[in-house]
Amino acid sequence: MIEKIRVAIFASGSGSNAENLVQYFNQHQKIEIVSFYCNNPSAAVIERAKKLNLPCLIFSKADFTTKGTVLLKLEEEKIDFIVLAGFLWLVPTYLVAKFPQKIVNIHPALLPKYGGKGMYGHKVHQAVAFNKDLETGISVHYVNELYDEGDIIFQAKIKVETTDTENSIAQKVHKLEYEHYPAVVEQIISKYFNV
Ligand code: GRF
Repeated sequence: MIEKIRVAIFASGSGSNAENLVQYFNQHQKIEIVSFYCNNPSAAVIERAKKLNLPCLIFSKADFTTKGTVLLKLEEEKIDFIVLAGFLWLVPTYLVAKFPQKIVNIHPALLPKYGGKGMYGHKVHQAVAFNKDLETGISVHYVNELYDEGDIIFQAKIKVETTDTENSIAQKVHKLEYEHYPAVVEQIISKYFNV
């Protein structure tokens, strides 16, 4: 039997994308979601991990910013690829170096618009609504040591109607994420590992 590519998901919040990824890769022949990693002890993603029967490592800033618990666990679990799904901390240099072109993130806007430190979740949709943008969307990008600045791999757009609010934009963008993120991750992994 061929060994599957082992994927870890990092999340800080609700984890609805994380769960959607797990469902997509359930029974996948070549790719397996092995575990969740979470920096926020009160995040709902921890409950999702339990429900999905997946281990979830909860870690502190110190565990993460210097080589420590997180790296050890990734090695122990033989993780090949990392997917960020609503993960809010900057990924430290040692981890980017350990997983070159093997960490991806999804951002709920059309980068380079509305990226950078502090631009996440509702703040992004609020800015789109405030600026009366005519379109918004999602960006999947490689992760480097800077917030939202790695090379963009994929984008998808939606129209923003004049009647849209911050909440309705958030809902539409989430839907777009569920539609595209798993398949984009699948393509990136398949290409990288030639599977
Ligand atoms: C998503 O909108 C994603 O683009 C952003 O954080 C949000 C996470 O949502 N990076 P959820 O926790 O997956 O529901």
